[in-house]
Amino acid sequence: MSIDDEKRLAAEAAAALIQSGTRVGLGTGTTVAFLLEAIARRGVVARFVATSPETADAARSLGIVVEPFDTLDQLDLAIDGADQIAPDGWLVKGRGGAHLREKIVAASATRFVIIADSSKRVASLHAPVPLELRAFGLRATLRELGDVTLRDVGPSPDGGVLADYYGDVGDPRELAERLASTPGVSAHGLFAPELVSEVIVATGKTVSSTTLGGPR
Ligand code: A5P
Repeated sequence: MSIDDEKRLAAEAAAALIQSGTRVGLGTGTTVAFLLEAIARRGVVARFVATSPETADAARSLGIVVEPFDTLDQLDLAIDGADQIAPDGWLVKGRGGAHLREKIVAASATRFVIIADSSKRVASLHAPVPLELRAFGLRATLRELGDVTLRDVGPSPDGGVLADYYGDVGDPRELAERLASTPGVSAHGLFAPELVSEVIVATGKTVSSTTLGGPR
């Protein structure tokens, strides 16, 4: 089994969770690409919102109707990938630069499900931790944060500056608090276990699901 096979298996397991007529947030990334295919194959009719223009475009090209996330005030389910999954359920997300919208969508969902291949499991979280920074005062924010590298990409869909923190992660909760309390930081890629309802990981042909502290 290849990594892509594992992504597909995890994505198919999550697609099966989508119930007709529910409000569903779609994450971003290569694992979510398999999710979109699985949703299209199932033909389940639900109300979908996307965490990035890339996901919205890919979904629409498969015939999935995507709504703007400006009228719905709550989602029943959100499904997304991850870059790193620690044993205690802490995640790093945002290598694709969509972590601000991904966090908004995750936080608004009653159930937030992570899908991943086995390479995403790590013993402890490590750098890089993706950031989205405000352009205003950028140099001052970088000075305050320390070990941060700007990405050589354009602005995020929300006008933010994409960057990565390369310092020690240590206790993710402490780092998350430090990043969140720095005024120039719009979003960081550390996702706490209490945000996550379930992690679905495929290892070879085996799909395992771990329930975490997030709402269900
Ligand atoms: C997008 O910004 C990220 O948070 C992705 O969800 C994460 O990087 C996982 O992406 P892959 O599924 O491509 O590994």
